[in-house]
Amino acid sequence: MKWDLPSLPSPSPPRRRSRRHRIMRAFGALTGLSFLAVVFYHSQVYDDLSAVLIKKHHKHKLPHEVAARCQQLHLKAGTDVESFRRRSTSDRFEPGTKPVLIRNGKIWTGRKNGTEVIYGDLLLDKGIIKGIGTLDTAALVNTLGENLVVLDADKAWITPGIVDVHSHLGDDSSPELKGAQDYNSEEEIIAPWLRSLDGLNTHDDSYPLSIAGGVTTALVLPGSGDAIGGQAYVIKLRETSERSPSSMLLEPPYHINNSFPNPNLPPRWRHMKHACGENPSDQFHHSRMDTMWAFREAYNKAQKIKQRQDEFCSRALSKKSWKHASDLEDLGEFPDPLRWEALVDVLRGRVKVNVHCYEAVDLDGIARLSNEFKFPIAAFHHAAEAYLVPDVLKRVHGKTPAVALFASNARYKREAYRASEFAPKILAQNGITVLMKSDHPVLDSRHLLYEAQQAFYYGLPWNLALASVTSNSAEVMGMGHRIGYVEEGFDADIVVWDSHPLALGATPAQVYVDGIPQLSNPQVHKKPANYQRLPRMPNFDKEAAQAVDYEGLPPLKIKKPVEDTVVFTNVKRMMVRTTTGIASVSTGEKESGGTVIVKNGTVACAGEKALCDVAATQLQGTHRVVDLEGGSITPGLTSFGSPLGLQHIEAEPSTNDGTILDPLKNSIPEILGGYSAIVRAADGLEFASRDALLAFRVGVTSAVTAPKSKGFYGGLGVHFSTGASHALEEGAVLQEVTAVHVAVRRTGKPSVSTQIAALRRLLSGKVEGAVGGYFAQVRSGHIPLVVEAHSADIIATLLTLKQHVEVDTRVPLKLTITGGAEAHLLAKEIGAASVGVILSPSRPFPYLWEDRRILPGPPLTSQTSVTALLDQGVTVGIGCQEIWDARNLPFDLRWAAIDAGGRLSEEEIIAIGSSNIEKLLGVERDPDSVELVVTRGGDILDTHSRVAAVISPQRGAIYWLED
Ligand SMILES: *[C@@H]1O[C@H](CO)[C@@H](O)[C@H](O)[C@H]1NC(C)=O
Ligand SMILES: *[C@@H]1O[C@H](CO)[C@@H](O)[C@H](O)[C@H]1NC(C)=O
Ligand SMILES: *[C@@H]1O[C@H](CO)[C@@H](O)[C@H](O)[C@H]1NC(C)=O
Repeated sequence: MKWDLPSLPSPSPPRRRSRRHRIMRAFGALTGLSFLAVVFYHSQVYDDLSAVLIKKHHKHKLPHEVAARCQQLHLKAGTDVESFRRRSTSDRFEPGTKPVLIRNGKIWTGRKNGTEVIYGDLLLDKGIIKGIGTLDTAALVNTLGENLVVLDADKAWITPGIVDVHSHLGDDSSPELKGAQDYNSEEEIIAPWLRSLDGLNTHDDSYPLSIAGGVTTALVLPGSGDAIGGQAYVIKLRETSERSPSSMLLEPPYHINNSFPNPNLPPRWRHMKHACGENPSDQFHHSRMDTMWAFREAYNKAQKIKQRQDEFCSRALSKKSWKHASDLEDLGEFPDPLRWEALVDVLRGRVKVNVHCYEAVDLDGIARLSNEFKFPIAAFHHAAEAYLVPDVLKRVHGKTPAVALFASNARYKREAYRASEFAPKILAQNGITVLMKSDHPVLDSRHLLYEAQQAFYYGLPWNLALASVTSNSAEVMGMGHRIGYVEEGFDADIVVWDSHPLALGATPAQVYVDGIPQLSNPQVHKKPANYQRLPRMPNFDKEAAQAVDYEGLPPLKIKKPVEDTVVFTNVKRMMVRTTTGIASVSTGEKESGGTVIVKNGTVACAGEKALCDVAATQLQGTHRVVDLEGGSITPGLTSFGSPLGLQHIEAEPSTNDGTILDPLKNSIPEILGGYSAIVRAADGLEFASRDALLAFRVGVTSAVTAPKSKGFYGGLGVHFSTGASHALEEGAVLQEVTAVHVAVRRTGKPSVSTQIAALRRLLSGKVEGAVGGYFAQVRSGHIPLVVEAHSADIIATLLTLKQHVEVDTRVPLKLTITGGAEAHLLAKEIGAASVGVILSPSRPFPYLWEDRRILPGPPLTSQTSVTALLDQGVTVGIGCQEIWDARNLPFDLRWAAIDAGGRLSEEEIIAIGSSNIEKLLGVERDPDSVELVVTRGGDILDTHSRVAAVISPQRGAIYWLED
C-alpha cells in the first residue's frame, strides 16, 4: 500500500455538490488525509480520486487507508535506524561532491559518553562517513579513483559539526531589516499551526558566518512571544543547489508536503516551541496565570480531539465488514482539524517540545501541565533557575527534559537574575542533560562552541561540554541517528579544528556539511603546541555550591582588607601602567618566579628576587605571605560599551538609571535649560550591581560609561570603580567627567545628515550653555569627542568633519570612534587622522545594515579589525555591548590575541583592554594609582588562572577575592 498521492494542482473554486461528493468527502477523510480532503473538496483532483475510491470500496470494506491511519496513530516517532544505516548515499548528497579522505586526525567521536577519541583517518563519500580508523589509502585510491581528495590533518582535532538546538537563523535574519523578521506572530498566544519554515529566509548573512564557527545544523525555533509559538524545523546551514528553504531541511516531517510514504514506518519527529514567563506576558499584556490557562485550554482542546480520533479508530477497526455504504458515512470524518493536528501529535509523544522557560514558577507550571496532559518535553531553554530545581525537571511527564543554556549571558531580565555560570556543572551532577545554545542572533551562533568552552571553564566535565553542542543536542532534536557523532553511516558533517576544540579561540580549518567542504580558502594561524591539549581550568567547586546555597545570589561584596603588608612569592610576571601604556617589570628568575611586597596598597618592592626576598625577611609586624604559584600582577582592565554602572537588570526600568532625552527627537524641558542641557553619567551611577562586581572579581576593575541614550546625544562619560559599594567611597568615582559622547547611526533617528548637521553646529564654537561649554572643550582639543559609529560612510563623514573643525581651530580634535564594525575599511584614513577606535563588540557581527561589511577574522580572513587597525597605527580598544558581558573582557582579549596569530605582545593585549580604552575616552590618571590585579597559577589572560586579589593604591588596600 503506497500512501503517496499525486501532487495536487492548486485549488480551484468549489464545484457543484452532489451526493457522490458528500460520500466521497467522508472517504476522503477516511483515507487518513483529512486535511487534504479539504483541498480535494475544492479541486478537480477530487473527482478523479473519488472515482478510484468508489470503485475500490464498493464492497463496503473499511478502506486500507483508514485502517493504516488508525494503526499508525500509535506508532512512536523516530527513524528506523537499522534500515536508515543501510543507506549507501545520503538523501542530502549533492551529485559531483568528491569523496574525501582525511588522514591522521584526532577524532572526538561523541561515543562512550563523549570520552572516545580515535587517532586515525576518516573517509567521507556520498554525503556519509564511510570509514573511520586506520584506512588503507592505496586501496581507497584504487576503488574511488582520482576523484578521491586526500588530506593530511597532521594530528588536528576533528569533531562532528556543531549542532545548535536553539536558533532563529533565517527567521530573524541579519543584517536586521524589517523585511525579514519572521519569527514571532502577534496574532494569537496559542499558535501550534505556525511553522518556522514559512519564515526561513535563505539570504541571512549568518549562514556562512556560523558555518565558519563549525555550526552545521540548527533547530530553527519560532520566537517566544507566544505561549505556543509554532512548529520548529531542523536545517543544515549549507547552501543547497536548489537554493530553497525546503532543501535545507533535515528529515522534515512528512506533513510539510503531505507525502506519507509508508504508514507502517514510524512518523518523523516534529518540533515545537513553547514559551512561558515574561515574553508571552509582555506580548499579550497579561500575567503568568493567563499564559498557563492559555496552555491548559489549548491542551484540553487537543486532548478532546485526540480522544475523538481514538474513538473513531476503535469504531473503525472494531467492525470486520460494513453492510452499507451509509455505515461508512455514519462513521464520519476522521477528526483532525488542521489548526490542532500538531498539538494532538504532541499528546501522542511525536513532537519534540522545546520550552523557553526561566524561573522555578514557570518550570514547575510546565511540569504540571505535562503531567496533566501527559506529554513529554524535549528541553527547557534558557531555564535560568533549572539548576535550583532539578527535582521539578525530573517530575516532568516521561523522560527528564534536557536543559539548554547560555554560559554567561544572564541577568538581562528578572527571570534571568538568578542564572549561574555554574548551572551546567550542577545540572550535570544531577544527571540532567546539558546543552549549550545560541538563540541566534541573540548570541552569534558562530561562537556557540565558546558557550561550551565557558561551561567547561566553570566546571562542566570536558566530555559533556563537547557533547553539549554536538551529540547531546543532536539526540535532543531526535537526529542522533545521523548527526552529532563521528561514526560510520552518519552524515558527513565534520569540523577539522586548529586547536583543541575546548581551547578558547578554536577555529575551524575546514568544515564539511554532507561531505562538502564549506571554506574555500581557510585562514588559520599556527597555534602553539599547548593549544592542542585539553586546557586546564580553575576549580570552582566552592562557588558552585554557594550558587545553590544562596539561590543564585551568592554574596559578591568585596571584602574589607585586613593586613597592611602582603608578600607575594612565586610571581611569574608583573606589568604596570606607565604614562604611555603598559610595561613589564622584571620579577627575577623565570623558573621560580619573583617576590613582590605590597604595603598599604602600594608596591613596595618588585624586581630582583634577591632584593625583595631580603626585604621580606626584614618585615616587622603582621604580614601575610601568599604563594601565587606562578601567578602574575597586572594593571586592572577597563570596561566600555555597555551601560555598566547604570543598570542592574536591563529589562527592569525600576533597576536602572533610565534613558536620557534626545534634543533631536524630544523637546527638552525648560527646567533643564532646553537643548543646551548636558547630562553626566556620574549623576546616575548605581554601584554594586552583580555585573559590576563580577567584572571586578575577574580583574575588570574600572569602567567608563556614558549616559544611556537611544538617540544622538550621549552626554558626559564617567570613570568609576566596578568594586565600589557607593559613590562616596574612596576611589569609587575615578573621574566625574571623561569625554563628550554622541552616536551617529541610521536607526530610529532623524537622518544621518541631520545628526551630522547638529554635530557640525555644536563644534562651531557658537553654541551657548552647558553643552556649548563642553563642546568648546572638545573644539579646543581638551577632551575627546566619542562617537558611536558603525558604518564606514558615517566614519568617513566624521573624519571630514574633524578636518573642517581643525582648519578653523588649528588644534587637533580628539576623536574616538566606538562600535566601528566597518572601521577596518578606512583603517588607513583613520590612522592618518589620529583617530582611535574602540571595537564593540570585539568580535564583529552584521547586526544592522551599517555593520554588515565586517572583517570576520579567521578562518574567513587572516586579518581581524584589531590587526587591520593596528597595522595603520590606530590606537585600538575593545568593548562590549551588554553589562553581563563586562566580566568576559579577559576572554575577549585573549581571543583577540589568538585571532591576531601571536603578533601582539602581552603588553599590547593588556593595553587594548585598559590603557588604550582610557586614553581614547578621556580618562586621565596617575599610572601609580591604577589598580593591580593579582592572579594565581597563571596570568590574567590564562584560562587556568584565578584572580586572588586586587591591589588598590588609591584606597591603600588589597582586596582579597579568594577567601
Ligand atoms: C558521563 O560522564 C560524566 C562526566 O564525566 C559522568 O559524571 C557520568 O557518570 C558519565 N555517564 C556515564 C553513563 O558513564
Ligand atoms: C516531500 O518531502 C519529503 C521529505 O522531505 C521528500 O522526501 C519528498 O520527496 C517530498 N515529496 C514531494 C512530492 O515533494
Ligand atoms: C598603613 O596605613 C595605616 C593607616 O593609614 C597605618 O597605620 C600603617 O602604619 C600603614 N602601614 C604601612 C606598612 O605603611
